[in-house]
Amino acid sequence: MSEQKNMSITLKVWRQKGPKERGRLETIPAEDVDPNMSFLEMLDALNEKLILEDKEPIEFDNDCREGICGTCGAMVNGIPHGQGKGMTICQLHMRAFNDGDTIVVEPFRARAFKVIKDLIVDRCALDKIIQAGGYISVNTGGAADANAIPIAQETVEEAMDAAACVGCGACVASCPNASAMLFVSAKVSQFALLPQGRPEAYTRVLAMLKEMDNCGFGNCTNHRVCESACPKEVSIIHIARFNREFLKAGLFSRLPIKKSGG
Ligand code: SF4
Ligand code: FES
Repeated sequence: MSEQKNMSITLKVWRQKGPKERGRLETIPAEDVDPNMSFLEMLDALNEKLILEDKEPIEFDNDCREGICGTCGAMVNGIPHGQGKGMTICQLHMRAFNDGDTIVVEPFRARAFKVIKDLIVDRCALDKIIQAGGYISVNTGGAADANAIPIAQETVEEAMDAAACVGCGACVASCPNASAMLFVSAKVSQFALLPQGRPEAYTRVLAMLKEMDNCGFGNCTNHRVCESACPKEVSIIHIARFNREFLKAGLFSRLPIKKSGG
């Protein structure tokens, strides 16, 4: 197999000094890019060069750099996290591009995600939805108690698939309505499927939906782009479960109900 040579890339990167400033795409050449670098390593190398030239480095979010934390995220050529299937931008490698390519890099865009600087957006709205109901507050006992409750393997797998959501917001950025429904449904599902999550299931689904609306996310109109954009391949099956949970909450909960999402 022939080794891929270092590449010259032209980046068109969104530069924005702050939330209230106007942003614009800036063209920055990236020379001598090792194809084995990750996308974020390429930005690191470019930033070192920009700093040496006394220019502002490109601000971007990152932490684990192995697809676990959900901190990273940007639109690469219009696709959340880039064209790699089932991967975050920190897992994307430069070998996915060709010498001479122009790559457009922009922040995730949604009304609920304010741009803080360059590629960094404020995704606190997702945390607010979790604070509204994405937890269990009943006493579930210790690990031994959990192990004593038999749960079908299929159900466990499905709950784990929902729990794989890392809260990156790519589903929101890809949705024409900037809906957070895939995220919310994954969080609702991971608890709704397990006995420990059932006691608060109805209050949870109502509270999380209300907070999603309050935060300014749009409604789900079944475009399904969220599913293909999700780096954890969270399925829209969870949105169907969310809708069933919502209907059950309407029948069995005493809380007032107003639904606009889903
Ligand atoms: S559902 Fe997928 S795309 Fe949406 S926040 Fe979770 S991991 Fe990210
Ligand atoms: S930096 Fe943690 S998932 Fe990308």
